Amino acid sequence: MTERSILLLPGDGIGPEIMSEVKALISHMNEKDGANFKTDEGLVGGSAYDAHGQAISDGDMEKALAADAVLFGAVGGPKWDDVPYDVRPEAGLLRLRKDMALFANLRPAICYPALSNSSSLRPEVVEGLDILIVRELTGGVYFGEPKTITDLGNGQKRAIDTQVYETYEIERIAGVAFEMARARGNKVCSMEKRNVMKSGVLWNDVVTATHKAKYDDVELSHMLADAGGMQLVRWPKQFDVIVTDNLFGDMLSDVAAMLTGSLGMLPSASLGAPDEKTGARKALYEPVHGSAPDIAGKGIANPIAMFASFAMCLRYSFNMIAESERLEKAIATVLDSGVRTGDIMSDGCTQITTTQMGEAIRKAYSA
Ligand code: NAI
Ligand code: MG
Repeated sequence: MTERSILLLPGDGIGPEIMSEVKALISHMNEKDGANFKTDEGLVGGSAYDAHGQAISDGDMEKALAADAVLFGAVGGPKWDDVPYDVRPEAGLLRLRKDMALFANLRPAICYPALSNSSSLRPEVVEGLDILIVRELTGGVYFGEPKTITDLGNGQKRAIDTQVYETYEIERIAGVAFEMARARGNKVCSMEKRNVMKSGVLWNDVVTATHKAKYDDVELSHMLADAGGMQLVRWPKQFDVIVTDNLFGDMLSDVAAMLTGSLGMLPSASLGAPDEKTGARKALYEPVHGSAPDIAGKGIANPIAMFASFAMCLRYSFNMIAESERLEKAIATVLDSGVRTGDIMSDGCTQITTTQMGEAIRKAYSA
């Protein structure tokens, strides 16, 4: 069977703790199911800085580019607050995104039945929620030029950020959203602000044209991004896939994330363009949360976001749909059984450690 290469970048804080639980599942899948994963490991973030003064080394960057997929833990922590800006821990993640050209950020918001009480919204609003936000990640106002602060000389300054999108950037992110929708609920809602932004007009036009040309079997709707924010909180189950730009996607995906309760539950994927010959996409999978320095080293971190990120990896990088669903189901089964890590603990449940949660998920996976 073809070898499946994965680069593990555990990073800092709780990163290594949650990664080692997924690593054990990967070994298990190799031994029991002949999955033929070949893993390698590298340093990223503060741990890489401590080892060689860079947030990711050229060698590890090469490994990331060569691997079929990258699993990323989390980076950062107070220890590195004072390191120079361009080698700060986050620079490792930014370099990975840039050099791997990861333009599509996928952020699912799934509400597990057992956790529908931990949302700030009423259980009936969120129970069974399963939406996917597709955020453009390499363009828009975070990167557009000019990007300056100018001293106007009269005690005033002027700051400029520029929202820039070109047709091809909108086409390719829309394509990802429509393809994702085909494998899910077959609905895409595109969000922009065409009423006040030229980039919103182009966004709307290009999404509409892409839909007409290649994806008219998928149901497409459009919403102004601010109204979209309202609708996400009012009745999130009306959505299946949401596609939006970098800035609106940053905010809307965080809003959607909190519909479901805990940060320790949320996975993400970042995908590049398909290879012209093989069709394979460069991809990085990571939990949404950070390195949680406040609980690092205590063995109490919730590994579910890391497992759920690996489930996305199985689906999107290896087309192992059955295994991906089995892992997602294992997570739900374990939660149904009433065990919880501290961050999602509630009355009547039993609190367990990171390792115990990992073991429980692996056991449910192979059951
Ligand atoms: P954080 O996500 O690390 O933690 C926020 C809160 O949620 C903390 O109380 C933490 O204990 C809790 N938490 C997060 N993940 C958890 C898990 N798996 N299980 C149980 N509890 C969990 O965000 P914070 O505190 O703002 O940032 C801490 C460090 O992480 C900073 O250095 C920040 O720059 C970095 N960071 C890194 C990210 C990444 O690597 N992609 C993303 C966000 C922050
Ligand atoms: Mg954000």
